[in-house]
Amino acid sequence: MKLGHLCESMGWKRVFLVSDEGLDRAGIVDLVHTPLVQQGRSAGSFLAVPAEPPIETVDWIARQIRDCEADVVIGLGGGSVMDATKVAAVVADRNCDAKSLVGIGKVERRGLPTVLVPTTAGTGSEATFVAILTDNHSGNKVGVVDPVLLADIAVVDPSLTDGLPPSITAATGMDAIVHAIEAFIATCATPIARGLALEAAKFLGPALTAVYQNPKDQSARDKMAIGSHLAGMAFANSSCCAVHALALPLGGRYSIPHGVITGCFVGEMMRHNAVACEADFRELGLAFGWGDSHAKAFSLHLDSLAGSLGLFDAIKTHAIPSSVIPAMAKDAVANRRLMGPNPNEVTVSDAERIYRSVLRIEEGI
Ligand SMILES: [Fe+2]
Repeated sequence: MKLGHLCESMGWKRVFLVSDEGLDRAGIVDLVHTPLVQQGRSAGSFLAVPAEPPIETVDWIARQIRDCEADVVIGLGGGSVMDATKVAAVVADRNCDAKSLVGIGKVERRGLPTVLVPTTAGTGSEATFVAILTDNHSGNKVGVVDPVLLADIAVVDPSLTDGLPPSITAATGMDAIVHAIEAFIATCATPIARGLALEAAKFLGPALTAVYQNPKDQSARDKMAIGSHLAGMAFANSSCCAVHALALPLGGRYSIPHGVITGCFVGEMMRHNAVACEADFRELGLAFGWGDSHAKAFSLHLDSLAGSLGLFDAIKTHAIPSSVIPAMAKDAVANRRLMGPNPNEVTVSDAERIYRSVLRIEEGI
């Protein structure tokens, strides 16, 4: 990978690398870090970003970036690493707390330059100005959302996803499918977003099942990387909606991979949205390669895809008590950034019903 040349052409001399332990163990970090060290560009690194990174971790990374006077931050990883990188680059530049940036439009000006290098095909975070962190005090996931968070450069190299285990390929890939769907149906979707979402669907539909069945299918890996990036661009020009609103309270309270949650909830939520989305689902179904079908069949297809990728089995391994459903439903509906653009209103009782249905929790249990 020619990140050194890239930095040289941009005039960046002191690179700080952010990644996670799994990628470090798998040797992926070395592919990027060793050339930077050899060229004398490495100012420092933090290689232990946890999944669903807490706000405090971002502050800790930012302190290290500041201490070594880095002039660019590279985020190499999945959504957790890229989201932490986006916010840490601002906190390091401004010497503030990450918590003060939580919300919409709180960042206001760009931080240190960032280069984002995705190693999964799913989050599309390299193409968006959203970063999701965990607030350990409230138990919620929170968003830092501001157009100035957009990376300076995104490097999408499908070969970095070659070693992904099937469970991560499945969860992240399904999340990309949800991004394309929600970006397309959101009430704020622009024509550009809808075009990007349809194009993403054409790549993701056939490729996800293919790569899950045969992880060595390079052509499908390439399609997933492109499709996931396009889906990220789509929701950056539109919005995610109710599936993501329901996912954040659940993911904040229980460590369930984000894509497992969105993949399990999308079918049920699209059944709820069907009344407002019949034509959209037909168009999306064709783009995904699932044929010309009505809204009910579209939702069933999403359920059966999530089932065939093992996502329902994965979510079943987490015991979610009935008692948390009302609070999660309230938190989800209160998230107007994501619920506002959903094409069919979701009330607190709708949200409770959908949580119970997908999590197979009966009322009163
Ligand atoms: Fe997502």
